[in-house]
Parts: sequence; structure tokens; C-alpha cells
Amino acid sequence: MVFNIKPYERKIFELIQESASELNVPVYVVGGYVRDRLLSRESKDLDVVCVGDGISLAEQLASKLRPTPYIAVYRRFGTAMIRHQELEVEFVGARKESYSLDSRKPAVENGTLEDDQNRRDFTINALAVSLNEDDYGRIIDSFNGFYDLEHKIIRTPLNPDITFSDDPLRMMRAIRFATQLDFTIEEKTLKSIIKNKQRINIVSKERISVELEKIIMSDRPAKGFKLLFDTGLLQIIFPEMAALQGVEIQNNIGHKDNFYHTLEVLENVCKESNDLWLRWAAILHDIAKPPTKRFYPNLGWTFHGHEALGAAMVPRIFKKLKLPLDTKMKYVQKLVLLHLRPIALTNELVTDSAVRRLLFDAGEDIDDLMTLCKADITSKNEGKVNRYKENYKVLMEKIKEVEEKDHLRNWQPPISGDEIMDIFKLPPSREVGILKTAIREAILDGEIPNEYDAAYHFMMQKAKELSMVNIK
Ligand code: CTP
Repeated sequence: MVFNIKPYERKIFELIQESASELNVPVYVVGGYVRDRLLSRESKDLDVVCVGDGISLAEQLASKLRPTPYIAVYRRFGTAMIRHQELEVEFVGARKESYSLDSRKPAVENGTLEDDQNRRDFTINALAVSLNEDDYGRIIDSFNGFYDLEHKIIRTPLNPDITFSDDPLRMMRAIRFATQLDFTIEEKTLKSIIKNKQRINIVSKERISVELEKIIMSDRPAKGFKLLFDTGLLQIIFPEMAALQGVEIQNNIGHKDNFYHTLEVLENVCKESNDLWLRWAAILHDIAKPPTKRFYPNLGWTFHGHEALGAAMVPRIFKKLKLPLDTKMKYVQKLVLLHLRPIALTNELVTDSAVRRLLFDAGEDIDDLMTLCKADITSKNEGKVNRYKENYKVLMEKIKEVEEKDHLRNWQPPISGDEIMDIFKLPPSREVGILKTAIREAILDGEIPNEYDAAYHFMMQKAKELSMVNIK
């Protein structure tokens, strides 16, 4: 393993060294930056610990930088942050208490570098690199973090019960790092998570969501969700997802385990897209299978209406997990609601009008919906998978064909509600809605072409039929 640093980072290290030596305080780079550089990963956060006052050191450094940077000072925590070029540099005085900025604990007793390393979450995050003149660049590795990095191990520096009790979010961080880095959580550390899982309840939902998002955005999130489930954390933070796990058998008939199926779909989506919300749609697409599950002796297992109930569950889940309740939520809801539609089309004859309806309902999200649907084709039966994939291909071609012909993406019918009101001198009313819907349906069914004149003629006809208005 080599410690690779960039030229502008070298420059900043030199200035930090100069500033620290002027203040006569020993100084070290610690935490995620050291870990990531040793793993050759990108890292934009630089944590600097000095045995002294971190805020004064930040101010000393800022006076040497041009243009003079803005310093964010958090006196309560005894920390300061400077943004310079691509780096965010955080300064803190070594201390004997837990770290994270967002924990509400106030700043505490000053300590030595060893005290500081003791209080960190994992051995791989407790490595320090000296920036002091006499041993510049020396790695201080009090807990064999280097060994754990090489052997891909997540382990707490102290007894894990102590480390997790300092900040229970670290239980999720352990799983997040294991997922992001593809590391293994050491046995004692893992057992301690299982033992202390209920302590996650004292952590804010926002902090939990940040870790959950990092798991979801990793290359292979299934590993993280399995660990969350196996430790019992998922059952506490996201019980709806945990409820997907399990296979019930009646009359010798079982159904698939919807938890592992969901993880397969999620990983399939991850191969195609980095979009967080499409990944959320994969996680939630079958979320209502447990509450809609029924067994009929002649039919076997059914999950009727799980797509509609699932869509209805989305806002509640987003609210509970402190996810945004805006267009992102609506997007996820829409994909959950429509996720069976393309597959249903491939089972029957794919007509133009069915494709037109799908295009209209999915709008600009049609491509994402199709990605989700393709990802949803998971089965141990290879024949079945191949048949579905073949159908899917046919449907994709048909979508392309209908789109080119009808330009239905983000489509609005050629006559608007305002125009209908204007033509018939109507106030906003039921009649306007009836006419508007009739025009849209006629176009989607292929009864009339998607053109103004045809729609106008059709509308006049319809109004006459319905005796809604006096047509001259
Ligand atoms: N830390 C900790 N306990 C926490 C949060 C952070 O001990 N609950 C320590 C770790 O030493 C960590 C450092 O503070 O390396 C910086 O934390 P943070 O920026 O949150 O994490 P990183 O390790 O840098 O990882 P990432 O940037 O991927 O979040």
C-alpha cells in the first residue's frame, strides 16, 4: 500500500506544518483521508488533529492562504473548517471524547493523540500521519489499522460495546464501510452490533438516512442490506423492508423470498444506473407484497394490488426515513405503481394502444420504468428468464416504433382544458373534464390521430352526442 498525495495537497500539508510549528503544537492528518489515500480512493475531506487548539491552528493556516478563505468555526465543538481548492479541511484539538460534528455532544476534555485515536470508530479510521518536522510522513498506527486495511477488516479500536455506545450510529457506519469497501466486519464487532442494535433508536433519523444512502449508492448494496437484516438493525430502522424476508409454504406451495428478490432487483438496477431514486424504486417496488399476500388452494400465492398499495406506502416510508417529500417521492411512487405494466404487456399481444397508454402514463420516466422492469426479471428458471427477456426486447422495439410515430413522451392532448372552456364558453366544470378525457382516450386508443383537426372534430361530435352544449 502506498500513500499517494497530490501536489496541491503536499503544498497544504507544508503550510499546516509551518502554522503548527509557529504555534508550537504537534499536528497530524487522521481519519478517512488517510484510509482513502492508502486504498487509492478519492477523498475530499481532510481531518487534521493537533495537540492544542484546532481553531487557532485553522486561523493561522488561513492567514497564509490566498485568497484568504472563509473559516467556519464551531466553538461548541472546538472545531473549524476551511475550504481550499478541492479540499475541505477540518481542524480539531485532540480530545478524549467522541467525534462526529453532528452528534449533539459538546466539546470535551483535551487529550493526547493516543486519546484521540482511542475515540475513533474503526481501526482503519484511526490511522494518523505526522505532519511534524521531526517525523513528517510517519504513520502512527496504534491499533493495527494498516493490517486491517490490508486484510479488509472492520474492527473497533476499543471494546466494540464502548465504541458503539459512544455513538450508536457507528453500527450503521460499520455496515456502510463493509459495503462500500467490500470489507468483512470482525466477529466481536459484529456480535456487538447484534447485542447493541436497540441503541440505534437514540440516533436521529437524518443521520441514519445518510448512512442508508451511502449503502444504497455503493456498487453492491445488497451486502449492506443483508448485514442490516442479519444484525437486526433493518427490522428497527426499516421494518417494511425486513418484512419482505421469508418464504411461506401452504399445500406444498411456496412463494419466492421477496427480500432476496428485492436485493437482486436492486443490484440489477445498480449495474445500469447511479440514480439514487431509481435505486429506491427498486427497493420499494414489492414493498406491499407482505400486506397483500393471500393463498388460494386453486391459484397458489397471490399479491394482488401490491403495486397500488406499495405506491400508497411510499409517502409514509419517505416521511419516516426523512427522505424528501417532493418530486423525488412522486417519481418513486410512480415507478412502484407502474412496475408491473410493461411485463403485463409482454404477456399479451402488444397492441399500439396498450403501448401508447404506457407511454402516456410513464411520461418522461419510461426509460427508468423499463430499466426497473428488466431488473425485475429474476428467476431460477432460465427458460422463464430468457422468455421474459425476449418479450422485453419486443416491447422495447414496439415502444420505439410507437414513440417515433406518435411522439407521446411528455405528451399533452392537442386541445387543452382552457381551450375547451373558451370554445364552449364554459366555466371550469365537470363537462370540461369529460370532453378532455374523451379526446385523450380516443387518441390513446388509436380511434383518432394525435392531431388538432381530428381532435377538434371529435370533440364537437362528442359534445353533440352528450347534449352538453348547444352546438351551432
Ligand atoms: N468518526 C468517528 N465516529 C463517527 C463519525 C466519524 O469516529 N460516528 C471519525 C472517524 O475517524 C472518521 C472521521 O471521524 O474517519 C471522519 O468522519 P467522516 O467524515 O464522517 O467519515 P469518513 O471516515 O471521512 O468517511 P466518509 O467521508 O466516507 O463519510
